[in-house]
Amino acid sequence: MRIGREIVEPLLAWYAAEARTLPWREHPTPYRVWISEIMLQQTRVEAVKPYFERFVAALPDVRALAACPEAQLMKLWEGLGYYSRVRNLQRAAQVLVRDFDGELPADYEALLKLPGIGPYTAGAVASIAFGLPAPAVDGNVLRVAARLCASEENTALPAVRSAVGDRLRAILPPGRAGDFNQALMELGATVCLPSGAPLCARCPLRRFCAACSCGSPEAYPVKPEKRRRRTEQYTVFVLQTEKGVLLRRRPERGLLAGLWELPHADGHLDEEEAAQAIEKLTGCAPEELHPLPPRRHIFTHIEWEMTAYEGRVAPPDPALGLAPCADQAAVPTAFRKFL
Ligand code: ADE
Repeated sequence: MRIGREIVEPLLAWYAAEARTLPWREHPTPYRVWISEIMLQQTRVEAVKPYFERFVAALPDVRALAACPEAQLMKLWEGLGYYSRVRNLQRAAQVLVRDFDGELPADYEALLKLPGIGPYTAGAVASIAFGLPAPAVDGNVLRVAARLCASEENTALPAVRSAVGDRLRAILPPGRAGDFNQALMELGATVCLPSGAPLCARCPLRRFCAACSCGSPEAYPVKPEKRRRRTEQYTVFVLQTEKGVLLRRRPERGLLAGLWELPHADGHLDEEEAAQAIEKLTGCAPEELHPLPPRRHIFTHIEWEMTAYEGRVAPPDPALGLAPCADQAAVPTAFRKFL
């Protein structure tokens, strides 16, 4: 994507006039900038504001955060969600106390090594808190960039994100990288809106914007075609023993890792094939088999089409890995449908 230097001055002038007053912008200490950027990762500005104020009042610096008891930390974060963010914040604070005298380093690469800090957050903190010339490419910035260039590229790809970062790095105004980065984010959040019509009449960059001049800014960024779900077919066995229905453990890796499942075989089997498969699984032929209504279960990328049989078997040798069900609650929904 080609993003020209001509956007810099109009963007900074617009930001100076239109920037929202936000608590972390008022006293942009490195600590406050860091906390705000982590909170803003998955949460809207309006929702973050009260949490931010409360958090920095209770934990005003890196040392306080590093030493905060877990229960208090969780309480301060309660309602923001994505709790790994706050766990990483504390871990990073502990590293900062140990290795950096309780201060955030004014160094992009050093920031990037801290728990919970990726390229976006490292760039945001480096530029906003320290004035360093690093780009900060978030979803808002990617959308603005894709529209400026009417780019057909898929902005979800790391390579595209990194190319946008390279392009922005080349035009960062010396000493104003923080304002420039925040101005792009601000434009994305308040004018170059994601859904519905962007407010092009209010945009300081519209005369440079290829998507606006071709009349369909909302068509960018281009949404990649959704990948179709893969379908898998199984025959599931509900095998009753005197101690309960037989279950087995799923492998420790992959879909539903380590959870309990009903035994099953690949494909849709007829009654005779099912009886043979059950004998192979349990070491004993089932007394009689009854078909159960078929079910389907949809995961993010896979869809299971399941037929099923119910039957009675003698308790199998434990070495075969099948055990009577102790707790149906531990069985994932995909299989519980048959219980
Ligand atoms: N979203 C993430 N960081 C932001 C910032 N500094 N200003 C406005 N929106 C943001």
